[in-house]
Order: sequence, then C-alpha cells, then structure tokens
Amino acid sequence: MLHDRHNGRLVLVTSRPYTLLSCAVSIDGCLDDTSGQRLLLSNEADFDRVDEVRAGCDAILVGANTVRRDDPRLVIRDAARRAARVARGLPPDPLKVTVTASGHLDPGSRFFTVGESEKLVYGRVPPAHLDGVATLVAADDLRAVLADLAARGVERLMVEGGATILAALLADGLADELHLAIAPRFVGDPAAPRFTGAAGLSPLLAEVRDLDGVVVLRYLLSPAAVDRHWLRVAIGESRRCPPSQTAFSVGAVIVDATGREISRGYSRESDEFVHAEESALAKVDPADPRLASATIYSSLEPCSVRRSRPASCAALIRAAGIPRVVYAWREPVLFVDGHGAEELGETGVEVVEIGDLADEARWVNAHLLTPPPVS
Ligand SMILES: NC(=O)c1ccc[n+]([C@@H]2O[C@H](COP(=O)([O-])OP(=O)(O)OC[C@H]3O[C@@H](n4cnc5c(N)ncnc54)[C@H](OP(=O)(O)O)[C@@H]3O)[C@@H](O)[C@H]2O)c1
Ligand SMILES: [Zn+2]
Repeated sequence: MLHDRHNGRLVLVTSRPYTLLSCAVSIDGCLDDTSGQRLLLSNEADFDRVDEVRAGCDAILVGANTVRRDDPRLVIRDAARRAARVARGLPPDPLKVTVTASGHLDPGSRFFTVGESEKLVYGRVPPAHLDGVATLVAADDLRAVLADLAARGVERLMVEGGATILAALLADGLADELHLAIAPRFVGDPAAPRFTGAAGLSPLLAEVRDLDGVVVLRYLLSPAAVDRHWLRVAIGESRRCPPSQTAFSVGAVIVDATGREISRGYSRESDEFVHAEESALAKVDPADPRLASATIYSSLEPCSVRRSRPASCAALIRAAGIPRVVYAWREPVLFVDGHGAEELGETGVEVVEIGDLADEARWVNAHLLTPPPVS
C-alpha cells in the first residue's frame, strides 16, 4: 500500500488487491486430514457465508495443490448473488486464479471446467498444456502475482487456501484480512496439513460469529484493513444522526495507536449544531496522552469553515494534537466550500482519503444530493 499526494491530499494507491484469506480448520488447527477424500469442515451456514464473501470479491485464488486434491468449483452458488453482481456490471462469478511451479494441473478439473469466469494460471513457466483453457501468466513470486492481478483491475481478492499459499502470503505481509472458521471437531492426526501463520503478526479481532456451531473469526492484518474497519464504524455512526435538510449526517471515531477506540460521535448528537468530530472530541479529556498518536476516522472530510460555530473540525483536530485523519467522502460544495484536508495536510497532519467507501457515506445523505448517489 503506497500513498500518493493528490491535490494536497494523501490518496491510497494500491500495488496489490485488498487480500482476504479464508479457511476452515478443526479445533486442533487442521485444514484437512490425511485421507484421500476432501474433508468438509464447514456446515451449510458457513458455506453460505463463504458464498457471500465470494460474491463481494473480484477474484478467488487457490494453490495448485488445492486444485489437485480438492477439485473445488470456486463459483457463487446463490442465484440472487450472481444476479446482483451482473446488475452491478460484474461477471456472475469472480475470476479464478491459481499458482503452480510444477505445472501439474489437469485441464479437466472443475477449476477449469465449471463456470464462465476467466481462469488465470501463474507460474515462472506457466504450463503450456493449459493454453486455451486458461490465461497463462509468467510471475516469479506471489508478490508479482498480486501486482499483476491489481493491474488487471482486481481490487478485492479472496484466497481460499491451501496451507502453503496461506502461510506464504502471511509470511510475506501480503494479506489484509483473515476469515477463520473453526469447526467443532478434531482431526487428531499430527500428519494432517495445518494452518500456519507468521510470527510477529498481531491481528486485530474485528468480529466473532457463531454459525450453528462453526465459529467464524474475522481478523484484520494490515493497517489498510484496520483503517477500512474503523472508517466503516464511523459511517455506521453517521446513520444515527437526527435528520436535517441543512447539514450533512456524519459519523466519527477516534482510535488509539493500538487500534482501540477512544470515543465516537455523530452530527447533532448533543445539540443542533454539533459536528461528528467535535462530538467525539468533546468526550475525551484534552490531556489524554493517547491523542498524540491517535487517528480520527470521519465519514466526511473534516470541515474547515462552518456557519454555526467559530472553530472548524480541522482546527479542533489540530488543537487536540491528533496526527492522523482518515475520511471517506470529500466534502462536496453544497453548504460551504471546505478545504479541511488541505488545511490539515499543510499543518503536518497525515490525511488519508479512502474514496471507495465514499458511496456508503454519501448514501446516508442521499436526501441532500442532486442527483442522488447511484449504485
Ligand atoms: N480447510 C480449508 O479451508 C482448506 C482450503 C483449501 C485447501 N485446504 C487443504 O489444504 C491442502 C492443500 O494445501 P497445500 O499447502 O498442500 O497446497 P496449496 O497451498 O493449495 O498449493 C501449494 C502449491 O501451490 C503452488 N505454489 C505455491 N507457491 C507458489 C509460488 N510462489 N509460485 C508458484 N507456485 C506456487 C505449488 O504448486 P505446484 O506443486 O504445482 O508447483 C505448490 O505446491 C489440501 O489438503 C486441502 O484440502 C483446506
Ligand atoms: Zn465539522
């Protein structure tokens, strides 16, 4: 993840897709047993969850050994999810991607034969016998694979194993998020393939779900994933604002350097004019030492001018000594012509815009916008 200066703002520039690892393990951490049969660890509810995650991704990657051993289909099962993708201008299924060094892949496997989506096979020397059934791409390592996928427009990649690929992406710091489903059973075989992580990573637990006994843990692995998580929380707060025809509905959350929430707020929370950032800041002791390394997430760019009060949110953030601001939606010129991002950036505050979440923030304010937001 790189930062690029653009009109005085820092905009995230991705050199690889947002990469989400997904796997199911037994209580004793196994991804499979040692029988020749594929071990089904998930239940129906969890398969449906996986289907939903797939539907939100542009591509699905598995290692060649998973193609050989499990012969997965890697398509979206639910017809409504497929139709919704088509309605959004996407192919019904995500791209299918695999990597191989040996080239030992059977063109008759379901990876290649099921579904209409494009199939991509990466390797140092991609296997020529697959010419015609897949797009073959030379790539030296997984970093090059991800860079090539990004260049092909893949923004969100789901990686569904196996053990080697998951471990390699974790070890190389190439993963943003991990969805770990723990099935209520033991494999009890020391020789079974296990889920292996990388020492030194300290993921943030974002969600725990119990799906009929399969426990799904969602971990955030990268700073980008943490930023997106908290920005979504801020957008969620914006939905709590009392309605107004003359002001935006905005949500804000202040988070410390270890990823823990300090406070949150939303527009018009405590009085008719209070802004989201102002409301979140009002709940913190100005002497709180955590502010000096905190990030404030706001669904809308912090204001630099306001009609209602003398101090803008940009000024309040600076006064609080918060060194980092992340927002989704650049303030449109509707009520005032704001330049909060530039103003903060010029005073040394790191300002990050995550523009692909702007639509979510805009939707909360659809009644103010002409034309209303599309999509
Ligand atoms: N429980 C779950 O959620 C889940 C999900 C998926 C898989 N699994 C299980 O995981 C097991 C398979 O895992 P695995 O570790 O054996 O295999 P894998 O991770 O699926 O695939 C490893 C293979 O990928 C290729 N590869 C890896 N890194 C590469 C690189 N940098 N460049 C080119 N090729 C590369 C190599 O293929 P070549 O050998 O062709 O060179 C390598 O042998 C199976 O038992 C499967 O059932 C479980
Ligand atoms: Zn404001």
